[in-house]
Amino acid sequence: MIKRIGILTSGGDCPGLNAVIRSVAKKAINNGVGVVGIKDGYEGLVQGKGVRLSYRAVSGILTLGGTILGTSNKADPFHYAIKKRGKFIYKDLSRQAIANFRKWKLDALVVIGGDGTLSIGYKLFQKGMPVIGVPKTIDNDLMGTDITFGFDSALRVATEAIDKLHTTAQSHHRVMIIELMGRNAGWLALYAGLAGGGDVILIPEIPYNMDKICERVLGRSRRGKRFSIVVVAEGARPCGGKKTVSQIIKDSPDPVRLGGVSKVVCQAIEKCTGLETRVTILGHLQRGGSPTPFDRILASRFGDKAVDMILKGKFGYMVNIRGTKTGSYPLRLVQNRQRKVKPNCEIVKVARAVDTSFGD
Ligand code: F6P
Repeated sequence: MIKRIGILTSGGDCPGLNAVIRSVAKKAINNGVGVVGIKDGYEGLVQGKGVRLSYRAVSGILTLGGTILGTSNKADPFHYAIKKRGKFIYKDLSRQAIANFRKWKLDALVVIGGDGTLSIGYKLFQKGMPVIGVPKTIDNDLMGTDITFGFDSALRVATEAIDKLHTTAQSHHRVMIIELMGRNAGWLALYAGLAGGGDVILIPEIPYNMDKICERVLGRSRRGKRFSIVVVAEGARPCGGKKTVSQIIKDSPDPVRLGGVSKVVCQAIEKCTGLETRVTILGHLQRGGSPTPFDRILASRFGDKAVDMILKGKFGYMVNIRGTKTGSYPLRLVQNRQRKVKPNCEIVKVARAVDTSFGD
């Protein structure tokens, strides 16, 4: 008998988190189940920061970006950072997290997040907590689901940015490079590059060769196309080379922050083609703003499915979508894995067919 459930959002935010919270909470409340919103992801679970979510509290949030619950991309109950005399020490506070779960008299916990969040969720499940995962990330790199919510909204932002760069690139006869997020996967750059008509798309899964990129840009220029658009995933890397790291965030479960590869590509293009080249790093704009209709619907479906699974007692699973159908996938198989672009997939082939270069 399920009487009360908890819900938290953890890791980097993205549009659609509130749509999931609303969907879970409204359906739960309509089924006579109380809902506790846990603040700031796993930090709130460890520190006991929970609030009752009323129907009214989750009303009117469907279109809001971000998360009304707050998030943390650092807090991990199994490796929790505590500052002592100016230094961080790490402790396993999972027992404290479980104690709070019991104190709130919860019968299930919905964790909304990417692979880090879901991996922690699985560890809590192994310790006896009834956990359900909901897959979120603009990177679209989670195992076990065709798509994560947040991706479509980020894709829209990225595509609009490429469209805008097109007009200024044409006016000034420039090479415009746009760097997009995505961590170690190229989904966002691939899809936005195809949707925005990028002339070159660089993704981590297809290492690039600088000469090939320059050939393409110069070839366009010779054919009278005096501008080029280069879409670069932050995880792109040259053949035999490494990814460009912008920052190491020590107390984060995933400490490496990628970024800056576009500047490297820019310098090389200017040097070998002599064409004026500019860089735009789109950054966190990709995670902001209102979710697209697609993401609002997907997030609502995921929330609905999560409550169905809770009511059936199906724990240790993540909600997923395959084709057009929602379903479930074991958290065990999600943890510490990433879904990457297959270099021979249909989308890559379609892009190549319209003469997009992958720099290979
Ligand atoms: O995973 C989402 C994401 O936006 C990645 O695309 C990006 O590499 C990373 O998070 C940025 O993290 P932060 O918000 O910590 O800078």
